[in-house]
Amino acid sequence: MTITLADPAGSPITGTRPPIASLRNQRAPRPVVIPPDFLSAVTSQSKVTSCPHNLYKYPARFAPEFAREAIRSFSQPGDLVMDCFNGGGTTAVETIALGRRAVGYDISSLACFLTEVKTTPLSIHDERRLLHWSQSLDALNEAAAIVSWEASDTEDGYYRRNLPPCALLFFSNVIAQLNGLETLRQKRFARMVLLSVGQWALDCKNHLPSIPEMRAQFQRQLTEAVTSFRQYTRNVAKSLDIPPHELLRRRTIVHASSETCGSGAPVKHGSVSLVVTSPPYPGVHMLYHRWQLFGRREMPAPFLLANCRDGDGISHYILGNRHEEGLTTYFNRLTNIFSAVRPCLKPDALVIQMVAFNNPKWQLPAFLQSMENAGYRQALPDATKTSEDGNLWRIVPGRRWYAATNKKSSGGNEVVLFHQPA
Ligand SMILES: C[S@@+](CC[C@H](N)C(=O)[O-])C[C@H]1O[C@@H](n2cnc3c(N)ncnc32)[C@H](O)[C@@H]1O
Repeated sequence: MTITLADPAGSPITGTRPPIASLRNQRAPRPVVIPPDFLSAVTSQSKVTSCPHNLYKYPARFAPEFAREAIRSFSQPGDLVMDCFNGGGTTAVETIALGRRAVGYDISSLACFLTEVKTTPLSIHDERRLLHWSQSLDALNEAAAIVSWEASDTEDGYYRRNLPPCALLFFSNVIAQLNGLETLRQKRFARMVLLSVGQWALDCKNHLPSIPEMRAQFQRQLTEAVTSFRQYTRNVAKSLDIPPHELLRRRTIVHASSETCGSGAPVKHGSVSLVVTSPPYPGVHMLYHRWQLFGRREMPAPFLLANCRDGDGISHYILGNRHEEGLTTYFNRLTNIFSAVRPCLKPDALVIQMVAFNNPKWQLPAFLQSMENAGYRQALPDATKTSEDGNLWRIVPGRRWYAATNKKSSGGNEVVLFHQPA
C-alpha cells in the first residue's frame, strides 16, 4: 500500500513507508497522510468476530482491522513491530499474519497467556486430541473437582473469591481432567477456551447458566475454536509460504512492565520499526484482570483458569491510582515507559497509539507532554476526518464506561496519536 507524506518543506513524499529520516531535522509536526484503508479501519464500528481475536474478549482491545491497517501502512514484511501494552495480543496476531515479527510486553500474566496461546499453532494431532478429549469429558466428579481447585488456589481461597459454587465446580472439573491431554500446548488451548466460557457465563451477567449448559458451551466452543484456529494458522502460514510451526519464531511475548524494555534482551537497540499500542486509559476504570458478577462482585478466577498468578490490585494494571490528583504517577510512568521504548526504536520509527480519556481537556495535553518528556514529537494526521484539534478521533462502540460519560464530550471517544523519536 502506498502512503503519502506531505513534506512541510516542499512536495509530498510518497512511498510504502514514510521516509521520516529525511524530515528528522525539521522541528514542525510532520503531517502523516493517512491511507483510506487505515482511515476506515480507525473509524470502523464492526464487532470482533474473526479468529483468533474472538477467542477471548480482552477489555479495551482495539479492532483487529485498526492494528492490521496500521501495520500494513507503516511497516514492511520482516520488520519488528512492538506493542508495549500488549493486552490480548491484537497487534502481535496481526503483525505475524502480515509477515512481520512481533514483540509484546504486558505486566499482566493473563494478557501474556492469551497472546501466547493465540500465536501458538496447533498441529493436526493437537486438533484430533483436543476434539476427542472434549467429547469424552466426564459429566462431573465433584470430589476430584474440589481436590483440583484446592491444589491450585491459595490457602485463603483468593482465586475462588465471589465465584458462584456451580461455576467453581464446573471449572475445577474441567481442570482436573486436563491431564487427559498430552502436551502443554493442548492444555493451554483448552484453558483459553475455558476462560472464554467463564467470561460468557459470568462476566457482567445477572443470570448464571447451569453446569450442563456450561459443559455444552465448553464442548461447542472448543470444537469451533480448535477447527477455526487450525484453519487460520494454516492460511497464514500458506500466505507467508512457511510451515505453520515457523510462526512461533516470529513473536516474543514478555511478561514484564515495559519500563524494562530498553535494557537489552529480548529487544535489541534500534531494531523496532513500528509501535502499535494502546495504554491503559488515564483516569478510566477498566478491569483487565477481573470478571464482574452482577455488575459489582469482582472475581480473580481468570488467573486460575489460565494457570497464571495475579499481580496486584487494579492500580497495578492501569499505571497507578486513577483517583490520584493530576494522575502524576500515571503520566510519570508513561514517560518512563516511552523513554525505555525509545532506544529500541529505529531512528525513523513511528509510534501509533489509540487512547481514550475521562477528561480529555487536560489529560490529552498531559499525555502529549509525557511523550515529549520521553523524547518524542507528535506527527499530525493529514486526513479529512480529523477534528478541530487536528487529531483523528473515533467513537467507541458499546464501551461500558462510555455510557457513564457525557456523550457529547470527547470523553467517550478514542484518539489515534502518532509520534516519532525527536
Ligand atoms: C488497553 S489494554 C491493551 C489492549 C490491546 N491493545 C488489545 O487489543 O488487546 C492495556 C494493557 O496495558 C497493560 N499494562 C499496564 N501497565 C503496564 C506496564 N507497566 N507495562 C506493560 N503493560 C502494562 C495492561 O495489563 C493491559 O493489558
